[in-house]
Amino acid sequence: MSKWIYGIDIREHGSGNAGATNTFRILGPRAGSGVMIADMMKGFIAVKLSILSSYAWTSEPFVNLQIFLGLAAVIGHIFPIWADFRGGKGIATLFGMILSIHPIVAVSLVLVFVMMLLLTRYVSLSSIAASIAFPLLILFIFNAQAQELSYRLFAIATAFLVVLTHHKNISRLISGNESKVPLFRKRRM
Ligand code: G3P
Repeated sequence: MSKWIYGIDIREHGSGNAGATNTFRILGPRAGSGVMIADMMKGFIAVKLSILSSYAWTSEPFVNLQIFLGLAAVIGHIFPIWADFRGGKGIATLFGMILSIHPIVAVSLVLVFVMMLLLTRYVSLSSIAASIAFPLLILFIFNAQAQELSYRLFAIATAFLVVLTHHKNISRLISGNESKVPLFRKRRM
């Protein structure tokens, strides 16, 4: 998208990731927010398409279909056919998907993400922390609202998927080369 609108391939700059964080980093908040909303909408709308099916509102099969459609959007986002299979890391699309299925879980994950970001200023580490919190929340806090086995498996798989898509960030975090978000700019005297 950045190639068509701004004439630059975001994958050749910054972290090299075709996602909202790198777009914020390279092109600023306007472009970054646009990418974040578009990526979230992919997951959100994909899940919402499930209400068109005859399974609508039939509990387990309905959730299975929601997860299938949402994951199709996430996989398409990570490995886009039209961009040499070099896409993003799936965070915003996964979030849109979870928001669509269980908004309360999604809001809790935002809290984990924001807390981690304020503490560390690493977006990648905050994304990883939220993805690990996801199965923990599903299994131990929201277990009454999320009883479907497929949803629980999806939550566990999400944590693994996010760790995999962030393997380069993890190497940079270990070597101390990961870039931090400048949350609070110091005033010049
Ligand atoms: O959502 C991706 C984020 O967690 C890391 O992005 O550009 O720092 O690799 P980036």
